[in-house]
Amino acid sequence: MTQARRVPLPDGQAELLEMIAKGAPLKETLDRLLIIIEAQSEGLYCSILLLDPDGTHIHPGAGPSMPADYMAMLDGFAIGPLVGSCGTAMYRKESVVVTDIMVDPLWAPYKHLVEPHGFRACWSTPIFLNRDTVLGSFAMYYRDVRSPGPVELQLIAVATHIAGIAIERKRNEDELNRYHNELEDLVKQRTAEMCAEKENAEEAVFALQQSNLELANALTTLNVAQEELVHSKKLVALGSLVAGIAHELNTPIGNCLMIYSTLADQALALGEQFAKQGSLKRSELSAYFDNSREAGEILVRNLHRAADLIFSFKQIAVDQTSSNRRSFLLDETIKEIVLTLNPRLKNALFVIKQDIAGGVQFDSYPGPLSQVLDSLIENARVHAFEGRASGTVVISAGQEKAGWIELCVKDDGVGIPPENIERIFDPFFTTKLGTGGSGLGLNIMYNIVSGVLGGQVLVHSELGAGTTFTILLPVVAPKPATTGVYSTSSAMQ
Ligand SMILES: Nc1ncnc2c1ncn2[C@@H]1O[C@H](COP(=O)(O)OP(=O)(O)OP(=O)(O)O)[C@@H](O)[C@H]1O
Ligand SMILES: [Mg+2]
Repeated sequence: MTQARRVPLPDGQAELLEMIAKGAPLKETLDRLLIIIEAQSEGLYCSILLLDPDGTHIHPGAGPSMPADYMAMLDGFAIGPLVGSCGTAMYRKESVVVTDIMVDPLWAPYKHLVEPHGFRACWSTPIFLNRDTVLGSFAMYYRDVRSPGPVELQLIAVATHIAGIAIERKRNEDELNRYHNELEDLVKQRTAEMCAEKENAEEAVFALQQSNLELANALTTLNVAQEELVHSKKLVALGSLVAGIAHELNTPIGNCLMIYSTLADQALALGEQFAKQGSLKRSELSAYFDNSREAGEILVRNLHRAADLIFSFKQIAVDQTSSNRRSFLLDETIKEIVLTLNPRLKNALFVIKQDIAGGVQFDSYPGPLSQVLDSLIENARVHAFEGRASGTVVISAGQEKAGWIELCVKDDGVGIPPENIERIFDPFFTTKLGTGGSGLGLNIMYNIVSGVLGGQVLVHSELGAGTTFTILLPVVAPKPATTGVYSTSSAMQ
């Protein structure tokens, strides 16, 4: 060992505290501490052993003058009640002074380890963190048998104090690093979790977008299919309308043709008879005149019937161009419409009540609206109260939602059987065939509401209790004609 230049202890202490404050490595600080201490006493060798935080195993901390192989050999030793000076001091948590290693029982198992190096005395003092926690031990070795004097005791006090500060600082640093690393790991883990969550969320959003797209496509397909269905339904309706018109006109026009050809035959026969005989009997002429008058009456009746039918058919094609659009107050207009119907209803046994919200301004077509009400009230007269001595028709109107009015025509008549309800809007569907019904009234009404007025028709009927037609109307009628839907419902009482 080379004896270092002797640094006065107070200077040495100041130097060491500065090293600790500046964060010098622990090994460097402890080596310097031991060199300064060793320089204070002739023949002194010092070592510091560190105790693991597990409180059992030791590791060499510093021993700059001690034999390197001896220090290395101590690595991993477990402390105990009979483990040399240091192992015992840390175990007992008190200083252990062995004046002669060769005879002391604490060293019995280990004295052969120090014998080659010639050490005889070994005094060891625990380095404390606090009263209970031991950080390590500071040992002083001499090559002669001896016990500590006041100088050595002071060196021990200084050395354990400074070593305690240095080791504690290192432990705190380690602890701090551990926390720091743990925190970093935690941050990394959380970041990874968040990234994964973000990816999951992005995937979910993507999946949602995909399914939205699919839904949008499905909706488009559905709309196309619906349009096609409406179109094909319209074609079917048109086909049956044309067939119906042909069928209906066939009877009066066929009658006219037949009457006319009969009359023509009779005229021809009479002409031939006159040419042959040069004269005609009064009775023959009178019969011919009677026939002609009768034929003329039948012809006129049938032509009127045909004209009436053609007039009805024309109503089916009501559209904006043939109707007058204007602003009007709903309640006033409905009052006027009902007034115009009065002459036709003067023998009717039912009463009409009105419950129309006042002040509702319409920008629509009063003519077609009047046709709608006319058709519904006429139906009440002809169908609802058939065979009844009294009844009531209530016409009510109120706001349904912004810009829309719900107009109801409700009777407490016989109702419509469920099997008929789906067909009442079909052209030529009537339960009064041959007794004046053409079955066009509700069809025309439906076309007017869904076309020119831009609304919808719903019907609800209960057999024996009455029928309600509900008509949803926009207060501002659309400019172009729109397609409406009708829905029907019925309930048996
Ligand atoms: N308020 C009602 N009560 C009971 N049945 C009704 C009522 N309104 C309509 N119906 C039934 O619906 C059928 C179709 O009515 P729609 O007005 O289309 O034809 P119609 O009245 O028979 O003939 P048209 O109106 O062409 O003279 C009627 O024949 C009738 O059976
Ligand atoms: Mg009718």
